[in-house]
Amino acid sequence: MPEPSPIVRIEHLRLDRGGRTVLRDINLSVPRGSIVAVLGPSGCGKSTLLAALTGELPAAAGTVEVLGQPVPRSQRALLEMRKGLGVLLQGNGLLTDLTVAENVALPLRTHTKLPSALIRRLVLMKLHAVGLRAAADAYPRELSGGMARRVALARALALDPPLMIYDEPLTGLDPIASGVVMSLVRRLNDTLGLTSIVVTHHVHETLPIADHAVVVANGGIVFSGAPDALQASTDPLIRQFLNGEPDGPIPFESRAFNSQPEPA
Ligand SMILES: Nc1ncnc2c1ncn2[C@@H]1O[C@H](COP(=O)(O)OP(=O)(O)OP(=O)(O)O)[C@@H](O)[C@H]1O
Ligand SMILES: [Mg+2]
Repeated sequence: MPEPSPIVRIEHLRLDRGGRTVLRDINLSVPRGSIVAVLGPSGCGKSTLLAALTGELPAAAGTVEVLGQPVPRSQRALLEMRKGLGVLLQGNGLLTDLTVAENVALPLRTHTKLPSALIRRLVLMKLHAVGLRAAADAYPRELSGGMARRVALARALALDPPLMIYDEPLTGLDPIASGVVMSLVRRLNDTLGLTSIVVTHHVHETLPIADHAVVVANGGIVFSGAPDALQASTDPLIRQFLNGEPDGPIPFESRAFNSQPEPA
């Protein structure tokens, strides 16, 4: 049987921001059904890479294919493509004056013409999937950080997207909430037949649920392989990142800015 095509295929990708090249010669293939962890120090370009997948940032060179198609450039085609992406952005982005259920319903109200009663049922199913059915009528301020993150996850799942993209899903969560969110990512991936890309610098929480790991540093991919192989790597750059050491082959980010004036 032929190999099914990858859900994301990136070839020789270059991404520029503010007139500067952030990432160059990125090659990455994400097989359907897998969880890929994209790791790397702060400011290395992880969110920039995601912006290329969602079409927010066009490629400066190379190709990006998502869901079997090149990422389109027209706004209309982009909106269509994004219905197939469940995106959990850095921060939850929950609307504070809406209830949990209303937040999860937003994508369904925006992108479908389903009747309210059916939307309510779908919303309760999504909330059930993240273990928060009982919180449907609460407001975001009444939730813990971990619960709010799970609501954002339910909202990202609302349209049943085949591809989930998580940008720093653990920021601000304690170890217990982090464990809950990460095991939920794995469980949803497997029970709903999704593919997941998890961008994070939380290596030790993320590797156990990942099938494949990629490390981004110094403007490119410096490791791509199995999580076990990453943990066992003796490469000084990888060791520096895994051990969180400030000195080594990865320059500490703020140094690059020392010679530049503060922005006005
Ligand atoms: N809108 C922008 N305009 C110009 N430069 C940007 C923009 N967004 C990000 N950058 C720069 O691109 C580089 C990569 O940023 P990016 O946000 O992708 O890093 P990151 O790996 O997601 O970091 P973090 O772990 O802190 O979220 C940084 O040097 C950043 O200053
Ligand atoms: Mg980021």
